[in-house]
Amino acid sequence: MTFPAHRIRHPLPPAHWPTREDAARARWFSPIRIGRQLTAAERTWVPAMVPWRATDDGVVTPEVLEWYARFAEGQPGVLVVEATGIRDVASGPLLRIGDDRFIPGLQTLVETVRERSRGRTRVFIQILDFVTVRRRPEPERFFGRYLEITDSLRAQLALWLDDRRWRDRSESDVREFLLGADRVTIETVLTDRELEALDYGYRERVWDVHLPHIRDLPWVLPGLFAEAARRAREAGFDGVELHYAHAYTMASFLSRLNARTDGYGGSREHRVRLPLEVLAAVRARVGDDYVVGIRYLGDEVIEGGSDLDDAIWFGVRFAAAGVDYLSVSKGGRFEDAKQPKIGEAVYPYTGESGYECMPTVLSDARGPFGRNVPLAAAIRRAIRSAGLRTPLVTSGGITTFEQAEGILERGEADCVAAARQTLADPDWFRKIRLGYGDLVRRCEFTNYCEGLDQRHKQVTCKLWDRKFEPGDPAVRLASDGRRRLGAPSWSPPGEAGVDAPAG
Ligand SMILES: Cc1cc2nc3c(=O)[nH]c(=O)nc-3n(C[C@H](O)[C@H](O)[C@H](O)COP(=O)(O)O)c2cc1C
Ligand code: SF4
Repeated sequence: MTFPAHRIRHPLPPAHWPTREDAARARWFSPIRIGRQLTAAERTWVPAMVPWRATDDGVVTPEVLEWYARFAEGQPGVLVVEATGIRDVASGPLLRIGDDRFIPGLQTLVETVRERSRGRTRVFIQILDFVTVRRRPEPERFFGRYLEITDSLRAQLALWLDDRRWRDRSESDVREFLLGADRVTIETVLTDRELEALDYGYRERVWDVHLPHIRDLPWVLPGLFAEAARRAREAGFDGVELHYAHAYTMASFLSRLNARTDGYGGSREHRVRLPLEVLAAVRARVGDDYVVGIRYLGDEVIEGGSDLDDAIWFGVRFAAAGVDYLSVSKGGRFEDAKQPKIGEAVYPYTGESGYECMPTVLSDARGPFGRNVPLAAAIRRAIRSAGLRTPLVTSGGITTFEQAEGILERGEADCVAAARQTLADPDWFRKIRLGYGDLVRRCEFTNYCEGLDQRHKQVTCKLWDRKFEPGDPAVRLASDGRRRLGAPSWSPPGEAGVDAPAG
């Protein structure tokens, strides 16, 4: 099946919500030990979601605090804070942890989650590195400035035009010619990477070792990740999650496409080397008693990419190296992403691998619900066969209690995460636990939120807007003035004080 062939519209799976007494006996609401010392009160989990609410300097804002406060009110066992940059470089409204000046804001975030979850939710932060991805340029700019006019490009022109004089033509002559050239000429004389830079925007690979800053990644990243983890600990987070998934640097090191020949690419042993070195550096900096988890891909879902066999092999190595949990995701790569409009950057959730990462109700026969569970299950089996107890977290299309409970019962994972369902209704875990499951606002899995993420707009859920009167001064709106910024509030009737802090 190819991505455009998704055609069946699947209904939401029916939900039979447990009574409060049944929920109290449920596996999903039972505690779990993560790492040496930490216990989460339940196995409900909110995976990282970027809401695009930080400042352009990467600092926590009141809107960021409100976003996490709202999730905390639902009292999940674990709440993972969005992908947060480990470098101190401009990266738009994405949180950063690349300098000590970010610690106070993050500390407030942690305190907010503790307070609003009444101490029940454990809060981790996902830390990531990424390499350069530029917007798709105007052809005038590309040919006028960005494209490097090399001797080899001149030679290609001379060959294609059957005119040796092109070998000596001035840079401005070449630029002017290319700007007016037809598509066949462009495709013939540019290299694949130059053509990609024109059509999609310039994008670095971790195997571009001719670039010194890319060549040096194995020497730079362990220290950067370790320092970021140290700051996370200082800010009071219960743990850090190393982002080895989706389109970013560490996932690319693990990828079968990683062709580095310096001992950090090629074979599985070499591809996992830097991810293990980063893990070791982080562990050395934060100590054995601090939770260090990894989120990575059970399958890249791209041509020539890593598959489940690789993921099983990596998972056993991560577990043997002492990672405290593994959270398994799928896809979300740049390689198969759609061409962006001019002025926009390529978005890694627009191709088939993107579909697999955040599947919608418009799907193949298998449908979007629990679609990624077999990956976590296979990795977990291999880890258990190796005699290791590392907890596995699964996510992807989880929207009912039965789904989650079935996954735990069958031993397919140890924790069950829900991103979009929790966005639709941040209270849903608590509603189910307290016997109010029939009040859950169910995610429709049509990805309005993901569309906002794609445009780096403040992420909200379309369902929240069904519950407000425009002009109501009590409701805060997104910066475009048209959407609710937060989910409608909920509290259980007469239920104050029922939620004991986790032990
Ligand atoms: C708005 C949005 C932002 C996301 N940001 C991240 C992120 O920062 N890091 C990450 O690992 N996954 C991110 N994801 C992926 C989710 O964590 C999750 O893996 C995916 O949505 C599938 O789970 P679901 O079906 O429960 O939504 C994001 C998803 C959404 C919808
Ligand atoms: S916007 Fe749509 S897909 Fe996203 S959380 Fe809301 S209902 Fe679910």
